[in-house]
Amino acid sequence: MMDELDGIRQQLNDIDREMARLFERRMQLGARVADYKYRHKLPILDTCRQFEVLQRNSQFLADESIKDYYADFQQKVMELTRGYEADFMLKTTEDHSSEGTFLTVRHSEQSYDVVIERGALAHIADYINLERKVLVVSDDGVPTDYWKRVLEQSGQGFSLVFPAGEKSKDMQMLNVIISQMVRRGFTRSDAVVAVGGGVVGDLAGFAAATYMRGIDFYNIPTTLLAQVDASIGGKTAVNFDGIKNVVGSFYQPAKVIIDTNTLRTLDRRLFREGLVEALKMAATFSRPLFDKIRDSEHIEDEIDTIVAEALRLKKRIVEEDPYEQKLRRVLNFGHTVGHAIETASEGEYCHGECVGMGMLFFCSSTVRSEIQAVLEKYGLPTRTDISADALMSFVGHDKKRSGDSVNVVYVNEIGKFELKSMQMASIKELICARQNCSE
Ligand SMILES: NC(=O)c1ccc[n+]([C@@H]2O[C@H](COP(=O)([O-])OP(=O)(O)OC[C@H]3O[C@@H](n4cnc5c(N)ncnc54)[C@H](O)[C@@H]3O)[C@@H](O)[C@H]2O)c1
Repeated sequence: MMDELDGIRQQLNDIDREMARLFERRMQLGARVADYKYRHKLPILDTCRQFEVLQRNSQFLADESIKDYYADFQQKVMELTRGYEADFMLKTTEDHSSEGTFLTVRHSEQSYDVVIERGALAHIADYINLERKVLVVSDDGVPTDYWKRVLEQSGQGFSLVFPAGEKSKDMQMLNVIISQMVRRGFTRSDAVVAVGGGVVGDLAGFAAATYMRGIDFYNIPTTLLAQVDASIGGKTAVNFDGIKNVVGSFYQPAKVIIDTNTLRTLDRRLFREGLVEALKMAATFSRPLFDKIRDSEHIEDEIDTIVAEALRLKKRIVEEDPYEQKLRRVLNFGHTVGHAIETASEGEYCHGECVGMGMLFFCSSTVRSEIQAVLEKYGLPTRTDISADALMSFVGHDKKRSGDSVNVVYVNEIGKFELKSMQMASIKELICARQNCSE
């Protein structure tokens, strides 16, 4: 009996050895493909070829009952090869940063490439299949040249430009976008391309997610906040009845293309606001990125590497926690008091400025002085005179509150964080200590 089992196991071992050899060979060829694609500026993901390979290879199987298993296996192998290609490409592109950086965000439903390249808009058709109906969505604060470049390169492109601002991110505007697609006869094989900040990305992404149960969505973020944060992770939403992001879904883009040249036209206050998001990522995950932002003499010249590094960190977070179950909450660093400041100040400070100030409440004194120095360097506010009581009343409404405690992100040392539950009384103490009030 055992002899029979040993015999089967021996055969399995032989197969595994052979598969390991073939796997290594496949990855080596993947590196050659990546090298070719890099030299010819081709995208990593080739959906048509992927489909073709699956179809072709399943014909080699005689046993019908394993075809589905094989499809999963083949898909996984291709995903791994693509990841290896992306990492290989990244190593190559890091030596040629002016030519762009590529990342692949892995997701069980749809993995996607992120391209960071100055001037990418000028040849966007190399990255997006524009030979189909394409709805280019933007807002009227985004320089028209950006979305027109996409339109010019598309065979059957249509544009939809709505008034800039958070108030456009609602069901009514969603309706306008969907109506346009219905009127133009968009099918499931057509696409939506967002060119703009987080508002455009969230709205166009949600429209793409819901139209015919989901059509291809490409994101070309043009604010720093959208580039370092909102562009990846698949969160799409609109506001409803004054409640932010309450109607939405997780929907992964088909690709994200970041042309950092677009930041040249961005208002400096908005630029600094986006920088806070990168700083937040650095404070919780990466000492080297923090030091880079702190020490940079010409931040605009180094913004490509800062965006790429911040996205590499966010990629790790969203890959590990695609549906915001736990780890992704780290992105809320600075938000507990930040949101309170934003609400209490009634528009005096923008979101990023509030998050910047909010970070100073939940960290050790050493970290606080480090973050404060960076905020000051970039002309960001570090203090408000809003009373502790006013701030506490808004912290009390925090979504992350449960009973008498609130879940917060705390940074003891730059590059490391803790998720902890804090009693309202302890939070009040922290706020009072910083706002110099008597308890
Ligand atoms: N999906 C996510 O994961 C996620 C994450 C963070 C924030 N968000 C959402 O993002 C939104 C905020 O995004 P935002 O800060 O980018 O604001 P925004 O989209 O409102 O853009 C700010 C302003 O900048 C203008 N603009 C955009 N690009 C420009 C450019 N290159 N040059 C000149 N002007 C330009 C816009 O027209 C707008 O007036 C919020 O709705 C928020 O909820 C989403």
